Amino acid sequence: MLLKSEGDVTVAGNVDEALREVALSTPDVVLLDLVMPGRSGLELLQEFADRGLRAPIIVLTATNTVSAAVEAMKRGAADFVTKPFELEALKLKVRDKLEKRELEDEVERLRDEIEERQQLGAIVGRSEAMRDVFRTIERIAKAEATVLVTGESGTGKELVARAIHDHSPRAEKPFIAVNCGAIPSELIESELFGHEKGAFTGASERRAGRFEAADGGTLFLDEIGELGQAVQVKLLRALQERTFERVGSSQSITVDVRIVTATNRDLAEEVKNGNFREDLYYRVAVVPLSLPPLRDRREDIRLLAQHFLERLGPDRKLTPAALGSLEGYGWPGNVRELENAIEYSLAMAEGETIDREDLPPAIGHSGQAEALREQWRQGERGFEETVNRFETDILREALAANGWNQTKTASAIGITRRVLKLKMDKLGIEESG
Ligand SMILES: Nc1ncnc2c1ncn2[C@@H]1O[C@H](COP(=O)(O)OP(=O)(O)OP(=O)(O)O)[C@@H](O)[C@H]1O
Ligand SMILES: [Mg+2]
Repeated sequence: MLLKSEGDVTVAGNVDEALREVALSTPDVVLLDLVMPGRSGLELLQEFADRGLRAPIIVLTATNTVSAAVEAMKRGAADFVTKPFELEALKLKVRDKLEKRELEDEVERLRDEIEERQQLGAIVGRSEAMRDVFRTIERIAKAEATVLVTGESGTGKELVARAIHDHSPRAEKPFIAVNCGAIPSELIESELFGHEKGAFTGASERRAGRFEAADGGTLFLDEIGELGQAVQVKLLRALQERTFERVGSSQSITVDVRIVTATNRDLAEEVKNGNFREDLYYRVAVVPLSLPPLRDRREDIRLLAQHFLERLGPDRKLTPAALGSLEGYGWPGNVRELENAIEYSLAMAEGETIDREDLPPAIGHSGQAEALREQWRQGERGFEETVNRFETDILREALAANGWNQTKTASAIGITRRVLKLKMDKLGIEESG
């Protein structure tokens, strides 16, 4: 109640509730009572550390348990307050932590800006959204908690999974990727957990599964939303207890693996629809990391295009018009589509430069406006001509949409037929397809 005036306040009655809350939204500051029903506050501190959560934690403690507060500080609590406390004093501490946290964020952002950070491992990007992703990767790489990477197809989920491994203390150990969507459901269990000789038709040799192969390292379960119900149960147990059995064996195997998962489905929605187990969802979505679609971070397009060009055709250049088209396009296939478009245009272009005509048609024809703007910025076209071209483009579009009927077009765009005719004459617009 005291803090409602300062911002959104969420209350959790025990450790598990708190963990669910932080999976849904990251708090800026946490007030933690050490004595709660069930698991203690000290355990929650550990869970937070495993998740790489940075929110400062203020521990509330009774005067006779100050030693517990000291223990809490050792485990990463930012501060403590002894009960009974003055409401104003608590408010001040919370404010102080919030300010400190904001300052730290600002320092990180400025550092990234000064360093003009544009890359983390193989991941390229300079948008604020991607820099945020970089910082999150670095932070959670050191933690052990299971990560769920989400994002539309082609946004770089697999790259991110690898980057998490590469920045973790497990980097020297194996990174094993399993595409759950590409393995037939009757084989997935033995793929993950292995099988004994003769466990099923075709199992002519004993074989270790991917969990064992990843021992000491990271197991990346891609397209986890595609897993069938039967395997979901087995996976849940493996995640909970870190033990499992090979198919056809009763001997338990224990491994030490960090799990990273990815999906382009809305897993929470799949849970609601009954396609994905809720308990498994909470196991895999401990640390959620979502990748923004490319259309929401257009600042990255030019950088990515140049990145792929350097890799695929180092001595070739994009014209401003081509760049404009790339920046104006909607990219339903995200970065993968951009990579393919560059590859395509390298094959199409004859000389040193890649022009708009060399791009895949859907892309070359889009973003006319952006392309025009780019040419204007580069001084390739004057103001008058740029504006005329804009006008021509949108008038043609409106005319085409109205079957080149001038009266209909004029009323659709809210000008008189006479003005439309004058503009068409001036700009030399006539029906030509
Ligand atoms: N930020 C980025 N910087 C450089 N390359 C990228 C970036 N994002 C994606 N790519 C490249 O785009 C392609 C697709 O990336 P990735 O396979 O990681 O996507 P995904 O999200 O796993 O897609 P899907 O859901 O279809 O499996 C890869 O070739 C990858 O190298
Ligand atoms: Mg993928």
